[in-house]
Amino acid sequence: MSKFEFAERIKKLPPYLFAHLDSLKKEAQAKGADIIDLGIGDPDMPTPKHIVASLGTASKDTIHHRYPSYAGMLSFRQAVAAWYGSRFGVKLDPEKEVLSLIGSKEGIGHIPFAFINPGDIVLVPDPGYPVYRNSVILAGGDPYTLPLLKENGFLPDFDAVDKKTMDQCKLLFLNYPNNPTSACAEKGFFEHVIELAHKHNFIVCHDAAYSEIAFDGYSPPSILQVEGAKDVAIEFHSLSKTYNMTGWRIGFAAGNRNILEGLGKVKTNLDSGIFEAIQMAGIAALTGPQTEVHRMSSIYQERRDLLCQGLEDLGLKLDRPKATFYVWVETPEGFNSTEFSLLLLNKCGIVCTPGVGFGIHGEGYFRIALTVDLEHTGRALERLSQRPWE
Ligand SMILES: Cc1ncc(COP(=O)(O)O)c(C=O)c1O
Repeated sequence: MSKFEFAERIKKLPPYLFAHLDSLKKEAQAKGADIIDLGIGDPDMPTPKHIVASLGTASKDTIHHRYPSYAGMLSFRQAVAAWYGSRFGVKLDPEKEVLSLIGSKEGIGHIPFAFINPGDIVLVPDPGYPVYRNSVILAGGDPYTLPLLKENGFLPDFDAVDKKTMDQCKLLFLNYPNNPTSACAEKGFFEHVIELAHKHNFIVCHDAAYSEIAFDGYSPPSILQVEGAKDVAIEFHSLSKTYNMTGWRIGFAAGNRNILEGLGKVKTNLDSGIFEAIQMAGIAALTGPQTEVHRMSSIYQERRDLLCQGLEDLGLKLDRPKATFYVWVETPEGFNSTEFSLLLLNKCGIVCTPGVGFGIHGEGYFRIALTVDLEHTGRALERLSQRPWE
């Protein structure tokens, strides 16, 4: 065997379908095709000016040029605790119940390394953000698929999991508002999850990356609002989508101090924290005016209305999202999600994401992101009106 062969843990990772689609998109663009990319989960609007200005100022202060602290600046963690208090009414100890992250993906990717031994079971939603499953595989654990089905409002049905698995399960990943289905969970669902976690003794990792992108006055809850949640759960948040800061790499985890201590131990050995000037910008984001956050949600809402109406008029089936910037649409009969995505790319010059890229239960759907302006959304609808699937 060649010594340059990838390690078994890498070989076990499922193929990355999106990379293939991306290369087909680039091929089409190289041939001169005018592509409208509705595949990207990356805000198209810039980071608000006061946040950028704060980085500018902080970056000039040499005090921020040295290694940051591992857990994050206390002032950043205090800003997180204050934000949690005003947004969710949840009290957090900034020293022990908040941990800064180099984007929430970093924390999600590392948490299994803190708690999962080879063969340990982790419940992962399917369809879901691929990092949940892949981080479990990298840590040597066994991902157990929790199907998110339309008939259950894309919430997992824990009654369908056998008791032995529930007892053996060490950790559960959840994500609401959900990528890719855009489904939302209410406090009653979180109460049930926390009750199960106490009963079967497992860790809950709730990913709330999209909690601040919501429509029609809806305000998504935090799992930490549930009584007893802090005994068993942590919640991941990201500044990426809330403040259009995907490139800055800043997020945080909040909740149970022992779980955060474990995650912190892994991080201490792998990274050296977030550039302090970026943490200062994060403080400006969390403690400054939230008007831009609300303005961005209303822009996504306008796009949602235009796009969903257009797709419904074309006979496509979907549930209008209450939150996130994704629309989860059923593929028309006769196509699987990959075939349909390729059809849209080749016939309409539109990139969308095939549902199967999020897991086998994503088959039969495709995801459209609301991250292009109204003009391009309208243009995409015009192209779709040719109905190449008929
Ligand atoms: C559900 C979900 N969680 C987490 C992330 C990671 O976000 P970040 O690492 O930028 O905080 C993403 C990014 O697309 C996401 O969709």
